Amino acid sequence: MIISMVMVMDRNRLIGSNGKMPWHLPAELKYFKKVTMGKPMIMGRKTYDSIGRPLPGRTSIVVTRNQSWPADGGHNEAQQQYLDNGQLRVASTFDAAVAIAGELLAEKQTGQGGDGESTGEAEVAVIGGADICKLAMPLCKRLYLTVIDAEFEGDTWLTSFERDDWSLASETTVTVDGYSLSYQVLER
Ligand SMILES: NC(=O)c1ccc[n+]([C@@H]2O[C@H](COP(=O)([O-])OP(=O)(O)OC[C@H]3O[C@@H](n4cnc5c(N)ncnc54)[C@H](OP(=O)(O)O)[C@@H]3O)[C@@H](O)[C@H]2O)c1
Repeated sequence: MIISMVMVMDRNRLIGSNGKMPWHLPAELKYFKKVTMGKPMIMGRKTYDSIGRPLPGRTSIVVTRNQSWPADGGHNEAQQQYLDNGQLRVASTFDAAVAIAGELLAEKQTGQGGDGESTGEAEVAVIGGADICKLAMPLCKRLYLTVIDAEFEGDTWLTSFERDDWSLASETTVTVDGYSLSYQVLER
């Protein structure tokens, strides 16, 4: 199983502002969907809260220290439904989240459901935020990194990312939604 990371940052490695993304870029959301579809996704509890629900076709594995989450996380009944139907899983450590992703991908390979059908490659996508990236970064082999060539205001940075640790496998630069975006695939 490959552990990959899928992140968007500005020129200064900024990724978040007040619990949300600092930008609204529909084209980037489409790219995110394409890259993550069919893969289990690991995320921090704050990132899940900012999305609010599992995204279709991808199991959300949420890392939280709160043993009672989502029941006492201010969530509605829908979250229980997501737990019941397997779209939402909860892990108390990053390693436990990786183990869940491994089980889902193994189920897929043996034809018992699970995630991972889009690429044929067993890949789990870590989708942030900064806290979870810090835990995941040493184990990540591939990074789908979108760099916005602009500077935004915010409060959360991808400080665990060191460009020198990575080599560029591919890069596509486009101008969309008024910004220049560089879609990079980086590998160790
Ligand atoms: N630009 C992007 O690509 C991108 C992607 C994702 C998120 N974001 C942004 O990033 C911000 C959120 O990032 P963040 O770093 O503040 O939060 P985060 O990583 O999404 O979640 C942090 C939470 O994860 C849990 N956690 C952290 N370390 C843990 C550990 N060692 N063991 C168990 N649980 C642990 C804790 O949950 P509990 O408090 O429940 O215990 C902690 O509060 C938001 O602004 C979001 O919009 C941007």
